Amino acid sequence: MIEPVVLHGPDALAVEAARLTAEAIQAAVMRRGACAIALAGGQTPKGCYEYLGRPPYQRDLPWEQVSFYWSDERFVPLTDVDSNFRMARLALLDRLSLTNSQVHPMVDGAQGPSAAAEAYAKQLELLPRDANGFPRFDIMHLGLGEDGHTASLFPGDPVLEEARAWVRAVKGPKPPPDRLTLTLPLLNAARAVYFLVSGEGKRRALEAVLRGDGRLPAARVRPADGDLRYLVDREAFPG
Ligand code: 6PG
Repeated sequence: MIEPVVLHGPDALAVEAARLTAEAIQAAVMRRGACAIALAGGQTPKGCYEYLGRPPYQRDLPWEQVSFYWSDERFVPLTDVDSNFRMARLALLDRLSLTNSQVHPMVDGAQGPSAAAEAYAKQLELLPRDANGFPRFDIMHLGLGEDGHTASLFPGDPVLEEARAWVRAVKGPKPPPDRLTLTLPLLNAARAVYFLVSGEGKRRALEAVLRGDGRLPAARVRPADGDLRYLVDREAFPG
């Protein structure tokens, strides 16, 4: 069973996730002069992004070398309250001085879900590759659903068997249904994968994922050559 990093509560989880992410950003920039991070959706990562958007990180990190992507996105306008891009923009991106070329939203409003997935894959061609030729993010943030989904990879969805495509359009049971998601090969190509999991509602799914229950999509995130950490709070993991 994988041992999670257990924090006292949601705020302590956000503080530790920000610290770990800041460390990984600095390590990536030292190593290769750049950092590509895939942000997670949902609500759990919001606290972490707010800490990264405030001093000291706002002031001290090499943001000009960082490129922002997403591990999944709801197929809604970027201004929609359900947009993962909007959550990250308000919590973090608006607080940094970034150029448009550093921020890569999955949805651009000009095309349907499948075309948007193909267009996003083209943007990922800029990234370094892993041993299997898949784009390799320096940091991959992921959440966990109560059903064991992560990104927009839901239990029983054939997309879980996707072995070639990097980005897919899917319909998920969690509203809004139309979504774009990175596929498992992309998640598993990352140098560092950080799951952020908070709340009693995630307890059963987290326990099964840590035990390696492959029926849950999140349990299939096992980076071949990367650092995998579960940052959880006491509500999600009473121990
Ligand atoms: C999404 C997410 C999804 C999320 C989990 C947890 O777009 O919905 O990427 O995978 O991370 O559902 O969501 P919460 O953090 O809101 O509980």
